[in-house]
Amino acid sequence: MVHALQIPIDTDRNEIYKTVIPQIVSLIEDEPDLIANLANISAALHAALQFHWVGFYLRKGSDLVLGPFQGPVACTRIAVAPTPRGVCGAAAVQKETILVPDVEQFPGHIACSSLSRSEIVVPLVFQGVTALVLDIDSEKLDDFTIDDQRELQYLIGVLKRKHFREDSDEQLQRGDTSV
Ligand code: SME
Repeated sequence: MVHALQIPIDTDRNEIYKTVIPQIVSLIEDEPDLIANLANISAALHAALQFHWVGFYLRKGSDLVLGPFQGPVACTRIAVAPTPRGVCGAAAVQKETILVPDVEQFPGHIACSSLSRSEIVVPLVFQGVTALVLDIDSEKLDDFTIDDQRELQYLIGVLKRKHFREDSDEQLQRGDTSV
């Protein structure tokens, strides 16, 4: 059964995370399909936090390919190998979260939207390989902090424990995992 999200108003982002993340966790807990869960996570984060763009890119061979998202249309394919492109490619190769306070200062940033000013990319790393990234763009400069990083990494950890196991479909379906 789907319930509408309860989103607190007139409060700060940490309070919103505190209220909304448990709702997202319960929203995905009974659904075994990864794409369905990525779709609802994108919609929930977008609605709750009013970011410009929230979405996922999934690793397919040497590229990241656009997955479920909320926001304006975006580029569909971002190279990871042989040369990583954009913030997403860099986070996939570094296997660490990247916060970009000003996208114009990030060499190679891929501007899917001219309204995007700052960005955070959180990779999900399974067996030493980035399987997908969560990418969030903001229209405000310097809009992401260590608090966003902590909360979003927590969510990616939940997703990883649920969907990425030795015997999971996602593991069996992955393509080239050399990077
Ligand atoms: N800015 C990203 C590309 C994806 S869009 O922001 C949706 C990047 O540099 O990798």
